[in-house]
Amino acid sequence: MGTEMKKIVINGGLPLYGDISVSGMKNAALPIIFASILTKDKCVIENLPEVSDVTLSLEILHSMGATVKMLNRNTVEVDTTHFVGGSSPYELVSKLRGSTYLLGAELGRFGEARVGFSGGCDFGTRPIDQHKKGFEALGAVMTIENGCNHIVTGPGGLCGASIYFDIASVGATINVILAAVMTPGRTTIDNAAREPHIVDLANFLNMCGARISGAGTSFIKIQGVERLHGCNYTIIPDMIEAGTYMAAAAAAGGRVTVRGIIPKHMETVTAKLLEMGVEVDECDDSIVVSRTSPLQHANIKTYFYPGFPTDMHPQFSALLAMASGTSTVTEGVFENRFRYVDELKKMNADISVDGRTATIVGPAHLTGAPVKAVDLRGGAALVIAGLAAKGKTEICNVEYIERGYDNIVGKLRGIGADISLVDIPDAVVEKAN
Ligand code: EPZ
Repeated sequence: MGTEMKKIVINGGLPLYGDISVSGMKNAALPIIFASILTKDKCVIENLPEVSDVTLSLEILHSMGATVKMLNRNTVEVDTTHFVGGSSPYELVSKLRGSTYLLGAELGRFGEARVGFSGGCDFGTRPIDQHKKGFEALGAVMTIENGCNHIVTGPGGLCGASIYFDIASVGATINVILAAVMTPGRTTIDNAAREPHIVDLANFLNMCGARISGAGTSFIKIQGVERLHGCNYTIIPDMIEAGTYMAAAAAAGGRVTVRGIIPKHMETVTAKLLEMGVEVDECDDSIVVSRTSPLQHANIKTYFYPGFPTDMHPQFSALLAMASGTSTVTEGVFENRFRYVDELKKMNADISVDGRTATIVGPAHLTGAPVKAVDLRGGAALVIAGLAAKGKTEICNVEYIERGYDNIVGKLRGIGADISLVDIPDAVVEKAN
């Protein structure tokens, strides 16, 4: 019979009340999991979100010879003593973007890397020219061979270098840090990405004995060390998951406390919600979101951190569709992150896209519909729209959503949403195939 497919079913229109807890950050967990390749000692990583991108990353390490032991639902012990470089399975590597970090980690440990092309959400081309620029500045040579990115140490060996990124790329910043922490000499990265998960990676590596300073700023300095030892590390909370639930509370109405967060990471999302007339109260490690008046329109321009996060763009388009007046969302990071718009239009949203800007006319009275997730955050946008829409929304392709949200259905049910995860009968699946 066909593979078991699921869909999310939401009966919308209910306000949300209660507390919702945030899991560890997926985009911090992935680089830290691959960074464990750099030491032969055991590493224990805590507060891992139970999402498929994390499971897949651990599967990749295990398939390459690492010992991976789940100590509990959110804690893993990784031992890469017997890790075999260059052996990553393409069928796994091609499923997520995070596998790109094998390049920096294998180069850092073995002086060479051979990795198939990564996957990830489809926002247009996702080049790695800045990664290559960084690796080659360190003295490596990167080519494409047999459908793989292949990196070898050049004739002069690897040594620290001064690197300037043309784009403040998160992935390239992560990959150069991984490649440079045990490269002799001093490496600097100018125009580095400043995201909180860059800081989390640097903190993890420094706990393993690396010498990284400036993470979180656009100028990072790395002094190469001989070797790294293991450590126990706890992943930071997921600011995008937190922002998603803040947007959900603003969309559905009611009063929700989002717990276990770092409010500073939420600053741009909080500011935008306040601008839209939503009440937002910050506490030490939680934020209370409530809405009792109609949403107001706003304009959003996504940009590299600390700009408005591109990973919050689709969720806010769903929210702005309900706001009074005309809003715009300009995507400043990716070429084309608007594939979700067609699905929101099936729910009566009034959105038109021209190049990198969506114009949203509201307030639209969203209505439930059968829709499909086209990528991770686009799927989250449909959940938000479904919570606010009148009637029933059915979202298929939920595997996209499960890549980055730990138990989203259970967490939303916990604050009063009428939402469930339903098996799609095999017959329907086979017909669809
Ligand atoms: C990471 O992707 C995240 N993925 C993305 O989150 C996130 O949207 C993005 O950073 C920006 O914050 C993971 O962490 C696994 P980039 P990444 O390199 O590293 C261009 C989610 O929803 N670019 O900062 O691929 C690139 O095309 C996902 O959780 C180059 O031109 O992002 C894009 O336009 C989606 N050359 C821009 O820079 C390069 O060598 C930002 O890319 C690298 C990137």
